[in-house]
Amino acid sequence: MQVKVIDRLPDRLPPDDDHPYRTGAWRPTFTEHDAEELDVLEGKVPEELCGSYLRNTENPVMPSLGRYHPFDGDGMLHAVRFAGGRASYRNRFVRTAGLEAELAAGEPLWAGIIEPPSRSLRDGWGARGKMKDASSTDVVVHAGRALTTFYQCGDVYQLDPDTLAQLGPAAWAPARGVSAHTKLDPRTGELFYFGYGAQAPHLWFGVVDAHGQRAFQQDVALPGPRLPHDVAFTEHYVVLNDLPLYWEPEQLAKGIYRPRWHPELPSRFAVIPRSGGEPRWFEAAPTYVLHWINAFEDGDEIVLDGYFQSDPVPRPDPTDGPYAGLKKMVDLSSMQTRPHRWRFDLRTGACREERLFEAISEFPSIHYARPGLRHRHVWSMTAKPGWFLFDGLLHMDLETGVEQRWRYPDGVYASESPMAPRPGAAGEDQGWLVTFVSDLNADRSEVHIFDAARVEDGPVARLALPERICVGTHACWAPTR
Ligand SMILES: [Fe+2]
Repeated sequence: MQVKVIDRLPDRLPPDDDHPYRTGAWRPTFTEHDAEELDVLEGKVPEELCGSYLRNTENPVMPSLGRYHPFDGDGMLHAVRFAGGRASYRNRFVRTAGLEAELAAGEPLWAGIIEPPSRSLRDGWGARGKMKDASSTDVVVHAGRALTTFYQCGDVYQLDPDTLAQLGPAAWAPARGVSAHTKLDPRTGELFYFGYGAQAPHLWFGVVDAHGQRAFQQDVALPGPRLPHDVAFTEHYVVLNDLPLYWEPEQLAKGIYRPRWHPELPSRFAVIPRSGGEPRWFEAAPTYVLHWINAFEDGDEIVLDGYFQSDPVPRPDPTDGPYAGLKKMVDLSSMQTRPHRWRFDLRTGACREERLFEAISEFPSIHYARPGLRHRHVWSMTAKPGWFLFDGLLHMDLETGVEQRWRYPDGVYASESPMAPRPGAAGEDQGWLVTFVSDLNADRSEVHIFDAARVEDGPVARLALPERICVGTHACWAPTR
């Protein structure tokens, strides 16, 4: 492996840091690398695997103003590019306006999500305002650009997907902000986006065409501020949501942004034509959902798959000490996230729902070409109970009900693992899963490649990375065009 150090930001974090989400597998890295010819530690990189695996990461540079939440950290993009059985790697900070301002000031300027906005020293971004847009949540590749976004809404930062050169904020993004989980339709090249805010309008969505120009944007009326995290689409519709976990309006007036769970209210889903129009609203059992697996049309029904949370606001465990509240907030086992299906009948307005699998899992992937179309195979991540750390991969075949799992040993954690299809293959499970692994036992990071149809066999190839990197949240696969 030939490694070149490109840059290094100063490490301003406390030297005796004990924060569970800034140490261990979440320990940030400060060095930007270019690495060619990654060393293959085991197996072989498939010759047909051609494209890039990109992952965003919350990688904090400054100490926090008050309490730190793992989703506050500054964005760092990591990319592995595969071609002809070889792999190269690059990583770069996302040079957001907020990060640049804090580096110039030499100190933190914005408080994170657990602290009140009034604690921030400057105006900023976000659905509630006065937050730093860290652009650290998500990444997609659209119209030849890698786009990073932030779950509390902000700008859309563009990077060259091959060189990771900074290309600045996307001109198409509305000033009021775009949430994480912009969604690419690989058949049309369109990108769907949404945003939300404490002030009216509380929800909006739009479409960017295949050339990177905004096609249109529409407001969606809600009873008040909501906290949507994801959007889904079918061949003809977009599906947005109004879920009963949201900031209390009376508390907002006092500057307190604390989500409250309303089990007495239904979950509501808006089905809206892709080109805009009046929403059709459907009601379902109360829950909160972070991520949708996919949506598709089945006759007169819109089918939506995602992860139903049985306990969206788990009670803190006092034995978790000073981080008790935070630990439950990001623990999939406590929230009990299980694959679920909603069916919205466009003729009757009724909704039917069912559990798809019992396995607690989240962070889905389907075949690259299937978004918006009927899917059979779902890959997702399992998490270490009590932690936001991915300890394995799960393959679910919706047709046969068969599950396959791969579990890493304790201290070894993976990333979201998108599916990279085998070029020209007809089968929906024909391809690979790619993931980054942070191995605390060996103090190193690796790239692992799995055969998507044989997850339980473990990785077919393991490659070395230049240093141990921080685990992160979202990743994507971008085939070489
Ligand atoms: Fe997310």
